[in-house]
Amino acid sequence: MDRHRIFDGTMARIDDDVKRETLARTDIATYIGSYVQLRKRGNDLVGLCPFHGEKTPSFHVHPDRGFWKCFGCQKGGDVLTFAMELEGLTFPDALRMLARRAGVAVEDETPAAARVRGEREQIYAANELAAAFFHRTFRLAPEGAVARDYAAKRGLTAATIEAFKIGYAPPSWDALLGELRAGGVDPEIAAKAGLLKRGERGFYDFYRGRLMIPTSSSTGEIVAFGGRALDDSEPKYLNTTTTPVYTKGRGLFALNVARRAASASDSLIVVEGYLDCIALHQAGFANAVASLGTAFTPEQAAELRKYATRIFVCFDADAAGQAATSKSVDVLSNEGCVPFIVQLPAGEDPDTFIRTYGAASFQTRLDSSLEWIQFKLDREIDDLLHKRLPRAQAARTAEKLVRGLPQLEWDRWRVYAANRLGIPPDDLRNARFIADGANFAPRGMVRHVAPAAEPPAMEREILAALVDEPALAAEYADRIPASTFADARYRRIYDALCAMRNAADGAAGVYAALDDDREAVAIVASLQKPDRSSKVRFQDSAARRAHLDRVVEVLTESRLEERKRELDRAMAESFAAGGTVPVEERDEHRRLVEELEKRKKRRLATR
Ligand code: CTP
Ligand code: MN
Repeated sequence: MDRHRIFDGTMARIDDDVKRETLARTDIATYIGSYVQLRKRGNDLVGLCPFHGEKTPSFHVHPDRGFWKCFGCQKGGDVLTFAMELEGLTFPDALRMLARRAGVAVEDETPAAARVRGEREQIYAANELAAAFFHRTFRLAPEGAVARDYAAKRGLTAATIEAFKIGYAPPSWDALLGELRAGGVDPEIAAKAGLLKRGERGFYDFYRGRLMIPTSSSTGEIVAFGGRALDDSEPKYLNTTTTPVYTKGRGLFALNVARRAASASDSLIVVEGYLDCIALHQAGFANAVASLGTAFTPEQAAELRKYATRIFVCFDADAAGQAATSKSVDVLSNEGCVPFIVQLPAGEDPDTFIRTYGAASFQTRLDSSLEWIQFKLDREIDDLLHKRLPRAQAARTAEKLVRGLPQLEWDRWRVYAANRLGIPPDDLRNARFIADGANFAPRGMVRHVAPAAEPPAMEREILAALVDEPALAAEYADRIPASTFADARYRRIYDALCAMRNAADGAAGVYAALDDDREAVAIVASLQKPDRSSKVRFQDSAARRAHLDRVVEVLTESRLEERKRELDRAMAESFAAGGTVPVEERDEHRRLVEELEKRKKRRLATR
């Protein structure tokens, strides 16, 4: 194989040894695991694919063999291709990044060598140098005192200042320029990085007299800065706009720090501002990131989705923040995230909230955050209430609103909307809806509801299959609980079948096992009659298994349905009482809805 040439136009090379060494020293499970939550399955690790939206894991990592593969989108490769795909890096950039992480020397890092590297690399180097200069000025320089006072006033601790490499740009036109020159950075490059401006008399420092907050890419390179004025002067923030390594509106502040905590908890907190985000980290919320402004883009949502599904949106409690929340929620759910809305008292932002009320109160706000559906419904219901529509008209509108939601959500939100509008829930429940609900069981299967005079067909069918082939009883015993059989005689037969030691004895064994249980024996005999009334006839073992599999599906589904109804009831009650629902219950409810939808889709597909 050829040596890998860096594509950036320089003659530097990264040879195969570097690649081999890097791959050998990089633990693929740890590296990928820092982006994707992985669970052990056999020799593999599996998780949700970061390259396409999915709700069940089809993304596999084989740690022994050093590669990964997604069976959903068919992408796959080694740890290098993973880094390239996920971070949008070229091969040499990915190799350099991984080599650096693994402590493999790629080339020496003198400023002279840096100058010949690609423009992106040079911009990273310029930003790195600038950040170090700002940070040093903040900590040690006499003129940094004003910034240290400001940071103290805003409650930033030494550890936070260190962790976020917070700095100070002195009020000078050429302090950074001199520093960069001394460090061998070409001012042209620094201007491309947004650090310097070119004026009539040459280059000058762009940031002067500001608190400096660097933003890193998710791989850790510094890509941009935010400079906060230390007083009321305008603009409040001066930011890096678009450069070869940064696109405004794409960035997410602190994602590189929040990544691990995000995939561990499958959740991220998104706030608007730098200092909101920093305040959250300082208060122990390690999964906070900032969107840096109010327009939340699909690219940002897709980026978040790589690390977590549940996104807690906590924008400022002002009109602009609420409007931004509404838009962001749509953008997020379009990208496959599950958004929650964290509400703060009017006029507060996360930073002021934490400073006033403390971390525990913020946690309470997270726990009582609104599901996005409720947030959207609330806004529309407020609107309806505001308009003072006649009751019937409000009911019709609310009914339409609820119908716009996924069908499995209807029940719950009908009760909620009705309560808020002060109308009986039945006004929002028309005949068509009830019919939809009752039609849940798959065609051809009889749903196990109230026991009829004659035991339901399903019970007879299960037993017919098992009497034909008693060995199947042990196989299905843990998936078909005895409680499936409402009729005591049928349950006794089922118990006997499951307890049979020697299934090879066939039907004779069943009779023996039933001993002198006359009723049960008569039923088994009726199941064996060649003209038995059961709708289902089993040709062979495969047909019996197929049937029992369907039974298991239906049983599982009704169990999930039952649990969902239970949660619906509990949630509707607490809504009605004006309370909130614990986050675990909401999570369970969401999982149930997802699972039921998936099953429904699968069933429709196989009809
Ligand atoms: N912002 C900006 N330029 C401005 C104002 C705001 O780029 N002139 C961005 C910053 O990223 C800022 C975010 O929008 O962090 C939120 O703005 P705002 O709520 O006004 O600022 P805070 O984050 O509350 O900043 P601070 O607490 O320092 O006042
Ligand atoms: Mn603020």
